[in-house]
Amino acid sequence: MFDQGKIDQLYPHWVQLRRAFHREPELAFEEVETARKIMAELDRLKIPYHYQGKGGGVIGEISGSSVEAATIALRADMDGLPGKELTGLPFASVNPGKMHACGHDAHMTMLLGAAALLRESPLPGKVLLVFQPAEEKGGGARVILQSGVLSGVRAIFGGHVTHHYRVGQIMVGNGVVTAQSDRFRIDIHGRGGHGARPHEAIDAVVIAGFLITALQTLISRESDPLHPLVVTIGSVQAGSAPNVIAAEAVLEGTIRTTQPEARHHIHDGLKRMVNAIAELHRAEIELEIQEGYPPIINTSRETEIARRAILEIAGSEGLVPMEHPSMGSEDFAFYLQKIPGCYVRFGARRHEDEYIPLHSPLFDINEEVLKVGATYFARVAWEALQDYGR
Ligand code: NI
Repeated sequence: MFDQGKIDQLYPHWVQLRRAFHREPELAFEEVETARKIMAELDRLKIPYHYQGKGGGVIGEISGSSVEAATIALRADMDGLPGKELTGLPFASVNPGKMHACGHDAHMTMLLGAAALLRESPLPGKVLLVFQPAEEKGGGARVILQSGVLSGVRAIFGGHVTHHYRVGQIMVGNGVVTAQSDRFRIDIHGRGGHGARPHEAIDAVVIAGFLITALQTLISRESDPLHPLVVTIGSVQAGSAPNVIAAEAVLEGTIRTTQPEARHHIHDGLKRMVNAIAELHRAEIELEIQEGYPPIINTSRETEIARRAILEIAGSEGLVPMEHPSMGSEDFAFYLQKIPGCYVRFGARRHEDEYIPLHSPLFDINEEVLKVGATYFARVAWEALQDYGR
Protein backbone atom coordinates (compact mmCIF):
# COMPACT_ATOMS: atom_id res chain seq x y z
CA MET A 1 0.00 0.00 0.00
CA PHE A 2 2.83 2.38 0.82
CA ASP A 3 5.33 1.71 -1.89
CA GLN A 4 8.90 1.15 -0.66
CA GLY A 5 10.28 3.16 -3.60
CA LYS A 6 8.18 6.14 -2.51
CA ILE A 7 9.39 5.78 1.08
CA ASP A 8 13.05 5.61 0.03
CA GLN A 9 12.53 8.66 -2.14
CA LEU A 10 11.01 10.65 0.77
CA TYR A 11 13.57 9.47 3.33
CA PRO A 12 16.33 12.08 2.71
CA HIS A 13 13.75 14.82 3.29
CA TRP A 14 12.68 13.16 6.57
CA VAL A 15 16.30 13.08 7.71
CA GLN A 16 16.56 16.81 6.99
CA LEU A 17 13.36 17.51 8.93
CA ARG A 18 14.52 15.50 11.93
CA ARG A 19 17.89 17.24 11.98
CA ALA A 20 16.23 20.65 11.78
CA PHE A 21 14.09 19.77 14.82
CA HIS A 22 17.14 18.35 16.57
CA ARG A 23 19.23 21.48 16.00
CA GLU A 24 16.71 23.78 17.70
CA PRO A 25 15.15 22.01 20.68
CA GLU A 26 12.62 23.88 22.81
CA LEU A 27 11.45 23.02 26.31
CA ALA A 28 7.95 22.11 27.46
CA PHE A 29 5.27 24.70 26.60
CA GLU A 30 7.80 26.85 24.70
CA GLU A 31 7.64 25.00 21.36
CA VAL A 32 7.09 28.01 19.08
CA GLU A 33 9.85 27.55 16.51
CA THR A 34 9.13 23.80 16.52
CA ALA A 35 5.45 24.50 15.76
CA ARG A 36 6.53 26.84 12.95
CA LYS A 37 8.60 24.07 11.35
CA ILE A 38 5.68 21.62 11.60
CA MET A 39 3.32 24.14 10.01
CA ALA A 40 5.78 24.88 7.19
CA GLU A 41 5.92 21.18 6.35
CA LEU A 42 2.11 20.80 6.54
CA ASP A 43 1.82 23.82 4.20
CA ARG A 44 4.24 22.15 1.81
CA LEU A 45 2.13 18.97 1.92
CA LYS A 46 -1.06 21.09 1.51
CA ILE A 47 -2.53 19.59 4.68
CA PRO A 48 -4.85 21.91 6.63
CA TYR A 49 -4.10 22.46 10.32
CA HIS A 50 -4.78 24.71 13.22
CA TYR A 51 -2.20 26.09 15.57
CA GLN A 52 -3.43 26.35 19.13
CA GLY A 53 -0.83 28.95 20.06
CA LYS A 54 2.27 28.73 22.24
CA GLY A 55 1.91 25.73 24.54
CA GLY A 56 -1.11 24.42 22.63
CA GLY A 57 0.30 22.32 19.80
CA VAL A 58 -0.55 21.91 16.13
CA ILE A 59 -3.43 19.76 14.85
CA GLY A 60 -3.29 18.67 11.21
CA GLU A 61 -6.22 17.08 9.46
CA ILE A 62 -6.33 14.62 6.57
CA SER A 63 -9.86 13.93 5.38
CA GLY A 64 -10.99 10.92 3.45
CA SER A 65 -14.02 10.64 1.19
CA SER A 66 -16.79 9.63 3.55
CA VAL A 67 -18.30 12.21 5.92
CA GLU A 68 -19.83 9.45 8.05
CA ALA A 69 -16.59 7.60 8.57
CA ALA A 70 -14.58 7.44 11.78
CA THR A 71 -11.88 9.87 12.89
CA ILE A 72 -8.67 8.60 14.44
CA ALA A 73 -5.70 10.52 15.87
CA LEU A 74 -1.94 10.02 15.62
CA ARG A 75 0.19 11.76 18.23
CA ALA A 76 3.77 13.03 18.39
CA ASP A 77 5.36 14.97 21.26
CA MET A 78 7.31 18.16 20.53
CA ASP A 79 9.50 19.10 23.50
CA GLY A 80 13.19 18.72 24.20
CA LEU A 81 14.86 18.35 27.59
CA PRO A 82 17.02 20.61 29.72
CA GLY A 83 20.67 19.53 29.51
CA LYS A 84 23.80 20.07 27.46
CA GLU A 85 24.14 17.94 24.33
CA LEU A 86 27.47 16.07 24.08
CA THR A 87 26.93 14.09 20.87
CA GLY A 88 29.23 16.28 18.75
CA LEU A 89 26.85 15.74 15.82
CA PRO A 90 26.98 18.31 13.00
CA PHE A 91 23.30 19.04 13.73
CA ALA A 92 23.68 19.11 17.54
CA SER A 93 21.61 21.59 19.53
CA VAL A 94 22.38 25.27 19.03
CA ASN A 95 20.11 26.21 21.94
CA PRO A 96 22.31 26.19 25.04
CA GLY A 97 21.16 23.89 27.82
CA LYS A 98 18.46 22.25 25.69
CA MET A 99 18.54 18.96 23.83
CA HIS A 100 16.29 16.53 21.98
CA ALA A 101 17.53 13.71 24.21
CA CYS A 102 14.28 11.73 24.14
CA GLY A 103 13.76 11.36 20.40
CA HIS A 104 10.74 13.65 20.14
CA ASP A 105 12.46 15.16 17.05
CA ALA A 106 12.05 11.71 15.47
CA HIS A 107 8.43 11.35 16.58
CA MET A 108 7.41 14.64 14.92
CA THR A 109 9.21 13.61 11.74
CA MET A 110 7.48 10.20 11.72
CA LEU A 111 4.08 11.89 11.91
CA LEU A 112 4.94 14.30 9.10
CA GLY A 113 6.24 11.33 7.10
CA ALA A 114 2.99 9.45 7.72
CA ALA A 115 1.10 12.55 6.62
CA ALA A 116 3.01 12.58 3.32
CA LEU A 117 2.08 8.92 2.74
CA LEU A 118 -1.55 9.23 3.87
CA ARG A 119 -2.49 12.29 1.87
CA GLU A 120 -1.87 10.31 -1.32
CA SER A 121 -3.98 7.30 -0.41
CA PRO A 122 -7.80 7.21 -0.45
CA LEU A 123 -8.62 7.14 3.26
CA PRO A 124 -11.78 5.52 4.59
CA GLY A 125 -12.11 8.24 7.26
CA LYS A 126 -10.37 11.17 8.85
CA VAL A 127 -6.93 11.33 10.48
CA LEU A 128 -5.92 14.01 12.97
CA LEU A 129 -2.19 14.65 13.33
CA VAL A 130 -1.66 15.73 16.93
CA PHE A 131 1.62 17.53 17.59
CA GLN A 132 1.53 17.83 21.35
CA PRO A 133 3.66 20.16 23.50
CA ALA A 134 5.17 19.38 26.88
CA GLU A 135 5.32 15.62 27.26
CA GLU A 136 8.33 15.77 29.56
CA LYS A 137 6.91 18.18 32.05
CA GLY A 138 3.46 19.39 32.73
CA GLY A 139 1.39 16.97 30.72
CA GLY A 140 0.70 18.66 27.38
CA ALA A 141 -1.70 15.78 26.66
CA ARG A 142 -4.13 17.29 29.14
CA VAL A 143 -3.95 20.62 27.29
CA ILE A 144 -4.83 18.88 24.02
CA LEU A 145 -7.71 16.99 25.68
CA GLN A 146 -9.05 20.15 27.32
CA SER A 147 -9.03 21.99 23.98
CA GLY A 148 -11.75 19.62 22.76
CA VAL A 149 -10.06 18.86 19.40
CA LEU A 150 -10.25 15.14 20.10
CA SER A 151 -13.99 14.99 20.78
CA GLY A 152 -15.52 12.28 18.63
CA VAL A 153 -12.14 10.66 17.97
CA ARG A 154 -12.52 6.90 17.84
CA ALA A 155 -8.94 5.95 18.74
CA ILE A 156 -5.47 7.41 19.22
CA PHE A 157 -2.08 5.90 18.40
CA GLY A 158 1.36 6.91 19.59
CA GLY A 159 4.85 5.54 20.00
CA HIS A 160 8.36 6.16 21.24
CA VAL A 161 11.85 5.37 20.02
CA THR A 162 13.92 3.04 22.19
CA HIS A 163 17.45 1.71 22.18
CA HIS A 164 16.32 -1.62 23.57
CA TYR A 165 15.62 -2.88 20.05
CA ARG A 166 17.19 -2.59 16.65
CA VAL A 167 15.66 -0.67 13.77
CA GLY A 168 12.83 -2.59 12.13
CA GLN A 169 11.55 -3.97 15.42
CA ILE A 170 8.39 -2.58 16.99
CA MET A 171 7.29 -3.59 20.46
CA VAL A 172 3.58 -3.83 21.21
CA GLY A 173 1.59 -5.09 24.17
CA ASN A 174 -1.97 -5.16 25.45
CA GLY A 175 -2.92 -3.64 28.83
CA VAL A 176 -0.47 -1.83 31.12
CA VAL A 177 2.68 -0.74 29.23
CA THR A 178 4.11 2.02 31.44
CA ALA A 179 4.09 2.73 35.16
CA GLN A 180 2.21 5.20 37.29
CA SER A 181 4.74 7.82 38.36
CA ASP A 182 4.49 9.91 41.53
CA ARG A 183 6.99 12.33 43.00
CA PHE A 184 7.64 12.91 46.64
CA ARG A 185 9.44 15.46 48.75
CA ILE A 186 10.46 15.02 52.38
CA ASP A 187 11.36 18.09 54.45
CA ILE A 188 13.27 17.22 57.62
CA HIS A 189 13.30 19.93 60.27
CA GLY A 190 15.88 19.23 62.99
CA ARG A 191 17.84 21.70 65.14
CA GLY A 192 21.13 23.17 63.95
CA GLY A 193 24.19 23.30 66.13
CA HIS A 194 27.96 23.06 66.53
CA GLY A 195 29.56 20.00 64.92
CA ALA A 196 31.38 19.27 68.19
CA ARG A 197 28.25 19.30 70.38
CA PRO A 198 25.69 16.92 68.84
CA HIS A 199 23.71 16.61 72.09
CA GLU A 200 22.56 20.23 71.67
CA ALA A 201 21.25 19.65 68.15
CA ILE A 202 18.92 17.40 66.13
CA ASP A 203 20.94 16.32 63.12
CA ALA A 204 18.86 16.47 59.90
CA VAL A 205 21.64 14.70 57.95
CA VAL A 206 21.60 11.61 60.16
CA ILE A 207 17.80 11.50 60.03
CA ALA A 208 17.96 11.76 56.23
CA GLY A 209 20.37 8.80 56.24
CA PHE A 210 17.99 6.68 58.32
CA LEU A 211 15.09 7.56 56.05
CA ILE A 212 16.98 6.79 52.83
CA THR A 213 17.86 3.34 54.16
CA ALA A 214 14.45 2.65 55.70
CA LEU A 215 12.61 3.49 52.49
CA GLN A 216 14.50 0.76 50.61
CA THR A 217 12.67 -1.82 52.71
CA LEU A 218 9.33 -0.68 51.27
CA ILE A 219 10.39 -2.57 48.15
CA SER A 220 12.73 -5.25 49.52
CA ARG A 221 10.70 -6.36 52.59
CA GLU A 222 7.13 -5.16 52.10
CA SER A 223 6.28 -5.65 48.45
CA ASP A 224 5.50 -8.70 46.36
CA PRO A 225 8.68 -9.43 44.40
CA LEU A 226 6.56 -10.48 41.42
CA HIS A 227 5.11 -6.99 41.01
CA PRO A 228 7.37 -4.31 39.52
CA LEU A 229 7.92 -1.29 41.79
CA VAL A 230 10.54 1.43 42.11
CA VAL A 231 11.29 3.98 44.83
CA THR A 232 14.22 6.21 43.91
CA ILE A 233 15.57 9.14 45.90
CA GLY A 234 17.22 11.26 43.25
CA SER A 235 18.02 14.38 45.24
CA VAL A 236 19.38 14.97 48.74
CA GLN A 237 20.09 18.46 49.98
CA ALA A 238 21.41 19.38 53.41
CA GLY A 239 24.13 21.19 55.29
CA SER A 240 26.47 24.08 54.62
CA ALA A 241 29.79 23.40 56.41
CA PRO A 242 31.82 20.46 57.78
CA ASN A 243 31.56 21.62 61.38
CA VAL A 244 27.91 22.66 61.43
CA ILE A 245 25.07 20.27 62.22
CA ALA A 246 22.39 20.78 59.60
CA ALA A 247 18.98 21.85 60.83
CA GLU A 248 17.25 21.04 57.56
CA ALA A 249 17.41 18.31 54.95
CA VAL A 250 15.31 17.79 51.84
CA LEU A 251 14.92 14.47 50.02
CA GLU A 252 13.16 14.20 46.67
CA GLY A 253 12.30 11.10 44.73
CA THR A 254 10.04 9.20 42.40
CA ILE A 255 7.74 6.22 42.85
CA ARG A 256 6.83 3.89 39.96
CA THR A 257 4.05 1.36 40.28
CA THR A 258 1.88 -0.65 37.91
CA GLN A 259 -0.96 -1.61 40.26
CA PRO A 260 -3.24 0.66 42.31
CA GLU A 261 -2.97 -1.53 45.48
CA ALA A 262 0.81 -1.48 45.35
CA ARG A 263 0.75 2.26 44.85
CA HIS A 264 -1.46 2.81 47.91
CA HIS A 265 0.77 0.55 49.94
CA ILE A 266 3.88 2.53 48.98
CA HIS A 267 2.20 5.85 49.75
CA ASP A 268 1.01 4.58 53.14
CA GLY A 269 4.41 3.06 53.88
CA LEU A 270 6.15 6.34 53.11
CA LYS A 271 3.88 8.18 55.55
CA ARG A 272 4.35 5.52 58.23
CA MET A 273 8.16 5.55 57.99
CA VAL A 274 8.37 9.32 57.87
CA ASN A 275 6.22 9.63 61.01
CA ALA A 276 8.06 6.87 62.86
CA ILE A 277 11.51 8.26 62.10
CA ALA A 278 10.39 11.77 63.03
CA GLU A 279 9.34 10.47 66.43
CA LEU A 280 12.43 8.31 66.82
CA HIS A 281 14.72 11.32 66.33
CA ARG A 282 12.63 14.13 67.85
CA ALA A 283 12.38 15.89 64.51
CA GLU A 284 9.54 17.26 62.49
CA ILE A 285 9.22 15.78 59.03
CA GLU A 286 6.83 16.81 56.29
CA LEU A 287 5.97 14.54 53.39
CA GLU A 288 4.41 15.72 50.17
CA ILE A 289 3.39 13.27 47.44
CA GLN A 290 2.65 14.73 44.02
CA GLU A 291 0.63 12.64 41.65
CA GLY A 292 2.38 12.09 38.31
CA TYR A 293 1.31 10.46 35.06
CA PRO A 294 -1.01 7.45 35.24
CA PRO A 295 -0.01 4.18 33.54
CA ILE A 296 -0.58 3.76 29.82
CA ILE A 297 -3.18 1.03 29.39
CA ASN A 298 -3.49 -0.10 25.77
CA THR A 299 -6.96 -1.27 24.77
CA SER A 300 -7.28 -4.72 23.21
CA ARG A 301 -9.00 -3.90 19.91
CA GLU A 302 -6.52 -1.10 19.16
CA THR A 303 -3.57 -3.28 20.20
CA GLU A 304 -4.81 -5.84 17.69
CA ILE A 305 -5.01 -3.11 15.00
CA ALA A 306 -1.46 -2.02 15.85
CA ARG A 307 -0.27 -5.61 15.68
CA ARG A 308 -1.77 -6.04 12.22
CA ALA A 309 -0.08 -2.81 11.07
CA ILE A 310 3.30 -4.00 12.40
CA LEU A 311 2.96 -7.37 10.70
CA GLU A 312 2.14 -5.61 7.43
CA ILE A 313 5.13 -3.26 7.49
CA ALA A 314 7.76 -5.21 9.47
CA GLY A 315 6.70 -8.85 9.26
CA SER A 316 6.68 -11.32 12.15
CA GLU A 317 10.42 -10.81 12.74
CA GLY A 318 9.73 -7.10 13.33
CA LEU A 319 6.94 -7.63 15.85
CA VAL A 320 8.22 -7.82 19.43
CA PRO A 321 5.55 -8.79 21.97
CA MET A 322 5.85 -6.92 25.27
CA GLU A 323 7.13 -9.13 28.08
CA HIS A 324 6.60 -6.73 30.95
CA PRO A 325 5.68 -3.07 31.35
CA SER A 326 8.31 -0.33 31.33
CA MET A 327 8.79 1.54 34.61
CA GLY A 328 8.98 4.75 32.62
CA SER A 329 5.95 6.99 32.34
CA GLU A 330 4.37 8.97 29.54
CA ASP A 331 1.55 11.47 29.39
CA PHE A 332 -0.01 9.54 26.48
CA ALA A 333 -1.75 7.78 29.39
CA PHE A 334 -4.14 10.75 29.74
CA TYR A 335 -5.51 10.15 26.22
CA LEU A 336 -6.11 6.49 26.98
CA GLN A 337 -8.16 7.40 30.05
CA LYS A 338 -10.67 8.97 27.59
CA ILE A 339 -10.10 7.33 24.20
CA PRO A 340 -9.16 3.78 23.17
CA GLY A 341 -5.71 3.45 21.68
CA CYS A 342 -2.31 1.85 21.56
CA TYR A 343 1.22 2.97 22.33
CA VAL A 344 4.18 1.13 20.80
CA ARG A 345 7.98 1.36 20.87
CA PHE A 346 10.19 1.69 17.83
CA GLY A 347 13.64 0.07 17.94
CA ALA A 348 16.16 2.82 17.13
CA ARG A 349 19.51 1.51 18.36
CA ARG A 350 22.33 3.32 16.60
CA HIS A 351 25.15 0.81 16.96
CA GLU A 352 24.75 -2.85 17.67
CA ASP A 353 27.41 -2.76 20.37
CA GLU A 354 26.50 0.38 22.24
CA TYR A 355 23.60 1.19 24.55
CA ILE A 356 22.87 4.85 25.17
CA PRO A 357 19.69 5.42 27.16
CA LEU A 358 17.02 8.02 26.55
CA HIS A 359 17.75 11.35 28.27
CA SER A 360 21.54 10.79 27.99
CA PRO A 361 23.58 13.78 26.71
CA LEU A 362 24.94 11.32 24.13
CA PHE A 363 21.53 10.16 22.94
CA ASP A 364 21.05 9.78 19.20
CA ILE A 365 18.89 7.55 17.02
CA ASN A 366 19.51 5.39 14.02
CA GLU A 367 17.68 7.59 11.51
CA GLU A 368 16.41 4.56 9.58
CA VAL A 369 13.75 4.39 12.31
CA LEU A 370 12.11 7.41 10.66
CA LYS A 371 11.04 5.15 7.79
CA VAL A 372 9.69 2.52 10.17
CA GLY A 373 7.79 5.08 12.26
CA ALA A 374 6.33 6.99 9.30
CA THR A 375 5.17 3.78 7.63
CA TYR A 376 3.78 2.39 10.89
CA PHE A 377 1.76 5.52 11.65
CA ALA A 378 0.35 5.64 8.11
CA ARG A 379 -0.47 1.94 8.18
CA VAL A 380 -2.03 1.91 11.63
CA ALA A 381 -4.27 4.85 10.66
CA TRP A 382 -5.40 3.00 7.60
CA GLU A 383 -5.92 -0.30 9.45
CA ALA A 384 -7.93 1.44 12.17
CA LEU A 385 -10.22 3.26 9.76
CA GLN A 386 -10.80 0.00 7.88
CA ASP A 387 -11.57 -1.77 11.13
CA TYR A 388 -14.08 0.83 12.37
CA GLY A 389 -15.68 1.06 8.94
CA ARG A 390 -16.60 -2.62 8.88
NI1 NI B 1 10.05 10.88 25.44
